[in-house]
Amino acid sequence: MSVGIDDISFYTSNYFLDLKSLADVHRIDKEKFYQGIGQEKMGIVAADEDVVTMAANAALPVLEGVDPETISTLLFATETGIDQSKAGGVFVHGLLGLPSRCRVVELKQACYSATAAIQMACALVAREPEKKVLVLASDIARYDLNSSGEATQGCGAVAILISANPRLVEIQPHSGHYTEDVMDFWRPNYRSTALVDGKYSTKIYLKALKQAWLHYQEITSTEFESLDYLCYHLPFTRMAEKAQTQMARINKCDRDAEALKAQVEPSLHYNRLIGNSYTASMYVGLVSLLENAGTDLAGKQIGFFSYGSGCVAEFFTGRVVEGYQRYLHRERHQHLLAERTELSYAQYLELYNFQHPTDGGEYTFPEQTTGRFRLGGMNQHKRLYCQR
Ligand code: HMG
Repeated sequence: MSVGIDDISFYTSNYFLDLKSLADVHRIDKEKFYQGIGQEKMGIVAADEDVVTMAANAALPVLEGVDPETISTLLFATETGIDQSKAGGVFVHGLLGLPSRCRVVELKQACYSATAAIQMACALVAREPEKKVLVLASDIARYDLNSSGEATQGCGAVAILISANPRLVEIQPHSGHYTEDVMDFWRPNYRSTALVDGKYSTKIYLKALKQAWLHYQEITSTEFESLDYLCYHLPFTRMAEKAQTQMARINKCDRDAEALKAQVEPSLHYNRLIGNSYTASMYVGLVSLLENAGTDLAGKQIGFFSYGSGCVAEFFTGRVVEGYQRYLHRERHQHLLAERTELSYAQYLELYNFQHPTDGGEYTFPEQTTGRFRLGGMNQHKRLYCQR
């Protein structure tokens, strides 16, 4: 029996800022963003959107035609938690009308925790193959205004259904790990924006890639040459190029630059337009690969490198299943991206500066999101979600 990804869908805000607008305000060449970091646009959340509404909106297509009683567990991965105590996934469980016998928990380790959730989900399904596990990864990447990280903001969520005999990607059982206590990127509880040592974070990312890969190779004896495509964690798409160069160097690979590029390029399309969505980011990359490869991927081996600052990293592989194309949500994703509204820099600032109130009063938030689920307001420190 194989275990893996039976369905996958992503969601992002209906607002974006073109990085050209940011470049104009900062009086720098827009090519620094378009080429230098490989980002074109970044998703910006509406006032009535948060990680819960994004995750619930991402899950809708994945749950179509699925008997909710078969979902044993909902794992919610995020580093944009809305409560120190209650798991964001419990709100999503309610919004989606999942059965009370479905257990829910939230996981955190920066951008890595969605991968921990997927590995746990695979183990749960291996124990109870008639059940499915819903993994949700949802995040809002926020850095200080005028900081070097500002251009690498973004937002989004993915919903991934893990099952036995999956229709999309079989996840292979072994993985390589790397953990090191470092301060490359972090966000203390009292801050709404991340702190980052940018250049150092890219170095640690590449070090973790090397170590996780070496561990994976030690266990499986896999050769880099046997991987057809790679999905790297994507804080910005140019990072995948750096990661691929690192892998080619470590493995003394003599493929030319074009061939190395072709192994990652199809996974970058959506992230270029959405920005960093932390936990969701690598899996948005997987959706992009499956939907934009321009060739039948059945039987292809994908290498995944998941990285979460702080840091924990994992390298694992998956094999694309025959007939996977029938179960993709390509049109829905492309429509979602095409229908977004571009923000002016002033409108971006307005949304950036919007803070959910903390005084326990009664508030109604403006109706801005076009998603089915929205955060309608707050009262007595409780978030009030509703459907459009
Ligand atoms: P920076 O100082 O803004 O940029 O920081 P730079 O000066 O290094 O320039 C970036 C690239 O653009 C350079 O290329 C320039 O040459 C090029 P490179 O040297 O890298 O090859 N460039 C141009 N290219 C074309 N035309 C031009 C031009 N000008 C310059 N005119 C940095 C960049 C990524 C550090 C910054 O954006 C940052 O701090 N971002 C946030 C941190 C981050 O994303 N780190 C990634 C690794 S850590 C990670 O992935 C985890 C994370 O997702 C969080 C989590 O786990 O939860 C972040």
